[in-house]
Amino acid sequence: MGDVEILLGQVLNFTGDPFQMPPDAAARHDRRGAVAIQDGRILSTGPADQVLAAYPQAARRDHGAGLILPGFVDAHAHFPQTAMIASWGKRLIDWLNSYTFPEEMKFGDAAYAAEIAARYLDLLLANGTTTVATFCTIHPESVAAFFEAAAARNMRVAAGKTCMDRNAPDGLRDTPQSAYDDSKTLLDRWHGRGRASYVITPRFSPTSTPDQLAALGALWAERPDCLMQTHLSEQTDEIAWVRSLYPDARDYLDTYEAHGLLGPGGLYGHAIHLEAREIARLRDVDASLIHCPTSNTFIGSGLFRTREFCVAGQRVGLATDTGGGSSFSMLRTMAAAYEIGQLRGTPLHPAQLLWLATAGSARALHMQDRIGTLAPGSEADLVVLDLSATPAIAQRAARADDIWEALFPTQMMGDDRSVAAVYVAGRVVPA
Ligand code: GUN
Ligand code: ZN
Repeated sequence: MGDVEILLGQVLNFTGDPFQMPPDAAARHDRRGAVAIQDGRILSTGPADQVLAAYPQAARRDHGAGLILPGFVDAHAHFPQTAMIASWGKRLIDWLNSYTFPEEMKFGDAAYAAEIAARYLDLLLANGTTTVATFCTIHPESVAAFFEAAAARNMRVAAGKTCMDRNAPDGLRDTPQSAYDDSKTLLDRWHGRGRASYVITPRFSPTSTPDQLAALGALWAERPDCLMQTHLSEQTDEIAWVRSLYPDARDYLDTYEAHGLLGPGGLYGHAIHLEAREIARLRDVDASLIHCPTSNTFIGSGLFRTREFCVAGQRVGLATDTGGGSSFSMLRTMAAAYEIGQLRGTPLHPAQLLWLATAGSARALHMQDRIGTLAPGSEADLVVLDLSATPAIAQRAARADDIWEALFPTQMMGDDRSVAAVYVAGRVVPA
């Protein structure tokens, strides 16, 4: 057993789901708290006095008034879109064709893929995000580059080769057979290796033939221990296109369901314009819905029903959707989720926003026992927030009467400047 290290600071630790109980009753806050870690895992969390008494010999690292939290979990992103984030003026289909596909074309070059994977993961860590579920490109090189960069940082990540065999340009299409073969080879190589998970990744129904969806459905049936990620009902034009491409389908979700791509462990990005049957089926199978609020406003997609799904107990993750999303920061993402909640008439409590970015996303990725929590035994991926990182935030936080009021200005106005420290598997990330 390695040495014990104790981190001191404010500690917020969820003990329940803030959508299933009064939000401020779902977490414990210690103004002077501590997290003891050993061998990359959390040993205990609680008031500093108690934790220090339990491990009197332990080394200490004092974060003062910094707020120690589980590292953020970004449940849906596209690392290859890092360099074209914030591209102007298009809605989904034009945005894909004008900006996204030309950039993704470059990832057949292993050196470029490695450069962007490293840049992306360093941006994530600077923003306090310690786990991401990301799409790669159709190129196996992009998947290897991503997993290698994540392994070099010892990060828990989930990723897969994006499969597309139609409605994408030359050089960016595979086939049903090559998508199956390449995905299987990558899965066998990476799934469960260190902290990596492979995710079967059909981009979305418009860019796959029914045969390709069926091939990936067959792979998922062979390997149900893998997650499966895709997009669902993001924009109304996209839904009309899906109807024309799949005339026999009952709805968009049915294009996945009919090909073995609906199930527990399915991650459905966006899920905005859903019909009653789709909502019922997603609930029946315990699928995960991934909310990407900065993307939904940036690309002009619509308003996700966060509160409704969360109160119903559906698995809901929070995500940047970089680079459809306009930020790498899960703090900015919490702000956008709050704003969308307001536009829906359902403001989310600070505890609910924080839960979505940590335990909620971890639960959506079926990793709730490992990450997104400070529970003993979980992996010591942590972020320490400075709740007064800018003058604007500091002057508002100074008036706060409780931890939620102290946290909310950082959730609304914070970004990477609010991240004081990050730990991955118990090791501090060099600034
Ligand atoms: N739908 C299919 N591909 C994409 C993508 O890359 N980004 C977003 N936001 N939606 C998609
Ligand atoms: Zn996406």
